[in-house]
Amino acid sequence: MLGLPIMPDSASTMSGRVDTLFGVLVLLALLFAVPVAGLIVYFAVKYRRGSNADRSNPPEGNTMLETTWIVIPFLLSMGVFGWGARLYFDIYTVPKDGMDIYVLGRQWMWEFKYPTGQRELNVLHVPVGRNVRLTLISEDVIHSFYVPAFRIKRDVLPGRYTTAWFQATKAGTYHLFCAEYCGTEHSGMIGSVVVLDPKDYQTWLDQNRMNAASVIAENTSSSVQAPITTTVTMAQAGAQIFQHLGCYVCHRPDGKGAGPSLVGVYGSQVKLANGQSVLADTNYIRDSIITPNAQIVAGYPPIMPTYAEQISEDELLKLVEHIKSLGSGTEAPPESNNPTGGMPEGGGSSGNQGSGADSGAQGSTNSGGNSSQGGNSGTQGSGGQ
Ligand code: CUA
Repeated sequence: MLGLPIMPDSASTMSGRVDTLFGVLVLLALLFAVPVAGLIVYFAVKYRRGSNADRSNPPEGNTMLETTWIVIPFLLSMGVFGWGARLYFDIYTVPKDGMDIYVLGRQWMWEFKYPTGQRELNVLHVPVGRNVRLTLISEDVIHSFYVPAFRIKRDVLPGRYTTAWFQATKAGTYHLFCAEYCGTEHSGMIGSVVVLDPKDYQTWLDQNRMNAASVIAENTSSSVQAPITTTVTMAQAGAQIFQHLGCYVCHRPDGKGAGPSLVGVYGSQVKLANGQSVLADTNYIRDSIITPNAQIVAGYPPIMPTYAEQISEDELLKLVEHIKSLGSGTEAPPESNNPTGGMPEGGGSSGNQGSGADSGAQGSTNSGGNSSQGGNSGTQGSGGQ
């Protein structure tokens, strides 16, 4: 309209649907507001003091009219309710297929981490036409991840993973905002989402692979030396942390250690000592590392110490990726390797670089593949509330 940018770009599979509902709500509001406002003015003029309008036979009531103005708005509002609920569930239900990207919010920047090892600040590169699943967490206060062009906004909380997803439909660069006041430089906590055609995206990934390798190699105190030409995936970095912190001593893949085996745990229902059972989603894994005694797995003593002081959010995400890789041999490795080119060799190399302790585990995890999908929706459920 006259080149006036009334609405932001529409660049995701959801943005058109959100706009349609929004447009209908505006039209409905106008449909009721305009006649009411018009009649107020009309009657105010017609029945003003001193006018000689006909004031005899004031109406006592009209059942037909009253029924109509109750029933029609009721049906309209229930229709809008159903429509909105449908859209809400579609927006909040993370699809099973797609690529994972991890988002760390902190005062005052966004950090994005790819399972394949790439990492960037304040700029998020994604391919067009692919579901992108975000797992978000804050290192300090509450932030909110907001991309108007995709019509998504999700609070980023300290201490708990939230999830969001989108599928970009149009290559381009779009604004990214923090939409929750988070301190003096809140307004500067901005960035951009760069949507690339699949080919350009591949080029970008290749160009950033070496950076990723060097960044991760220097961040992890590992015995595994990564060749500079190969990306160290988050799962591999997580496996190194798993070794470094000594987790493997108790969490043996054969389940004969002092703690439960973590093979296939992701996305499964875990029986607890108190008789309840919980879904082992990303939040469960995180909580089990930070507050291990809050949920004790049935059959094991409460002996695990907290790692809250020893581990950063960044390392937690890598451990989560590692544990996911133990439990979804059929699904997660191909998914997480896709961004590097969708080559099957990606999966092979990750197996080669894995430590001895978990390469055995990776071999025996195919059964967990399906249940891990349930894990995603479970994460979504808790994140959305
Ligand atoms: Cu982060 Cu506002």
